[in-house]
Amino acid sequence: GRRGDSGLNSLASIRANFAIKALDGPAGDAVAVSVEREDVVEASEAFRERALVSSRAQYEEMYKRSVEDPDGFWGDIASTFFWKKKFPVKDGKLHSENIDVRKGRVAVEWFKGGETNICYNALDRHVEAGLGDKVAFYWEGNDVGVDAKLTYKEVLERVCQLANYLRSQGVKKGDAVAIYMPMLAELPIAMLACARIGAVHSVVFAGFSAESLYQRILDCKPNIILTSSAVKRGAKIINLKDIVDDALVRASEGGHTVGTCLTFDNNLAIKREDTAWQEGRDIWWQDVVPSQEKKCEVEWVDAEDTLFLLYTSGSTGKPKGVLHTTGGYMVYAATTFKHAFNYHDDDVYWCTADCGWITGHSYLTYGPLLNGASMVVFEGVPNYPDAGRCWEIVDKYNVTIFYTAPTAIRSLMRSGDEPVKRHSRKSLRVLGSVGEPINPSAWKWYHEVVGDKRCPISDTWWQTETGGFMITPLPGAWGLKPGSATLPFFGVQPAVVDENAQEQHGECSGYLCVKAAWPGMMRTLQGDHDRYETTYFAPFKGFYFSGDGCRRDKDGYYWLTGRVDDVINVSGHRIGTAEVESALVSHPMCAEAAVVGFDHEVKGQGIYAFVTLLEDVEYSEELRKALINAVRSQIGAFAAPDVIHWAPGLPKTRSGKIMRRILRKIASNELDQVGDISTLADTSVVEQLINLRGK
Ligand code: WT7
Repeated sequence: GRRGDSGLNSLASIRANFAIKALDGPAGDAVAVSVEREDVVEASEAFRERALVSSRAQYEEMYKRSVEDPDGFWGDIASTFFWKKKFPVKDGKLHSENIDVRKGRVAVEWFKGGETNICYNALDRHVEAGLGDKVAFYWEGNDVGVDAKLTYKEVLERVCQLANYLRSQGVKKGDAVAIYMPMLAELPIAMLACARIGAVHSVVFAGFSAESLYQRILDCKPNIILTSSAVKRGAKIINLKDIVDDALVRASEGGHTVGTCLTFDNNLAIKREDTAWQEGRDIWWQDVVPSQEKKCEVEWVDAEDTLFLLYTSGSTGKPKGVLHTTGGYMVYAATTFKHAFNYHDDDVYWCTADCGWITGHSYLTYGPLLNGASMVVFEGVPNYPDAGRCWEIVDKYNVTIFYTAPTAIRSLMRSGDEPVKRHSRKSLRVLGSVGEPINPSAWKWYHEVVGDKRCPISDTWWQTETGGFMITPLPGAWGLKPGSATLPFFGVQPAVVDENAQEQHGECSGYLCVKAAWPGMMRTLQGDHDRYETTYFAPFKGFYFSGDGCRRDKDGYYWLTGRVDDVINVSGHRIGTAEVESALVSHPMCAEAAVVGFDHEVKGQGIYAFVTLLEDVEYSEELRKALINAVRSQIGAFAAPDVIHWAPGLPKTRSGKIMRRILRKIASNELDQVGDISTLADTSVVEQLINLRGK
């Protein structure tokens, strides 16, 4: 192949690759700082009085039961949900698992044989309990002054109308439905409507390009796609329908035709009459949905029936369709939400994530609604029209729990304290962080300036694959250390292992794995169970492998140190370097590309691309732009490289493997630390690259 590491799929080389990464692991300041200072931040007495779990001892006791008797622990919690048919107990068990590839096929099931519906549990259950008039969504538009309020009863009615429409189009249990929408209330409503009728939603973040959307459509083959005419993000208007049209044409050419494109008229600058339209396929949401019945029969599904697919990036190849099922995910999303945010019925919750990512599934849609929470759904971006927007919204709705990503915190931090202090924020009680390691300085600013030192910070470590929080504080239960996600959630058994899959004990560092199944874990990768086993269970036999490195300190606290595979985390968006490389080489002038991450002040990691052009092609600014545009159109704007570094040659071993370790050192300008280069086929390449830095 054109890329140097095409042999990466063999297990031995996956392990070898991880091993290389660990030695010079991207520690960030989280680890470096934590070693020196052990300042522990305790919650106030007042906070602890309302804590669901108020001491580490109480947690230890609950945790012990959760790992010694997972069926009893989760069975008790699951019983508090509505089951059309109660999950059966077989030989005292409610779940079965094999996560050890040496013992056969990896398979995990929870509450199998039980029948339920997550939409019913998220909406109907609360309405029937008399909470119909409680606000479910405070929708806040991109522009100041544009907002709407929806109660549980109203959300349920809208969900039913859309579900009825989907049924009228022939959507049945098990069918995939693609969703490519901005953060309108209709986006979580669409997810719930699918769940109501047993359809499998596949939400694609509306920042992905037509090419990426097309690939996802081709993989899960939906017959219907839900979208919106346009979206305004900050000051920019993006015509989503055009992107969908493009993707649908590609899908048809690729062999899959999507029959219906239901388009929400977002009433923006792009008017109906100016929207490209294909009669017979395209239909305006407002023309067909509001006229539907406001009641819709629930489709009862097995606990192990698929709830959704969500595509995510890996270190190699095309995106993986992570598959989550219904029962275990429901119980897990709800329970983690409740405990990690110390949720109470009078809270107003705000998660800034987009439903296009797992956070928007578990902690914007399902987790909070399953708890009957009132929440803010925000269409816009944190710094529009200015850096005070978030705190203005916090005051407007009296938000008590605020959950965002370190990249947003760092970017707001740059605008100083004034935009924060201008607003009262006195309603805030708990702050959350997700997506990447939070550096202690951002943690402290968040705690001191945003939270006035009053609000515990839940730094939640988890992944698309885990379905819900894995390592997270339970606010009020134990002291926090800035930069540490602290302790495992109930039922989660982390293991820090070395390159020989040996579990480490006590204070240690290594690869973060998990020893046993938990209810929210993914069950397979769409259409590729082999890849599921190879990626997550084969590298360290007997364990689920997260792809992250971590350290455990003397108090048992976990400190995440970042990915140890070729996945980079840019502004909390997970991007496979292989995907960026393949986008770059799709440009006709590009012969080869190698992409690595580098520390970036705001984004956490930036994208640094080494590009080798075809012979005799001259470097130019124009070409640089064209290469960046190739990535924008293949993946999406969020994956655009920050740096293109011209590379006459790449540092390769004699067997042709690119030594990324060297590229990472060049990217981070640690030129005296490139290390041993004697195994390179051509050692002069390194000096050549160093000379071209910044050119
Ligand atoms: C990767 C998963 C989970 C929702 C958002 C991202 C990194 C996530 C943390 C955290 C350190 C974190 C890991 C993980 N990550 N949260 N609190 N501390 N790292 O989901 O796109 O599946 O990415 O994000 O590297 O493997 P995702």
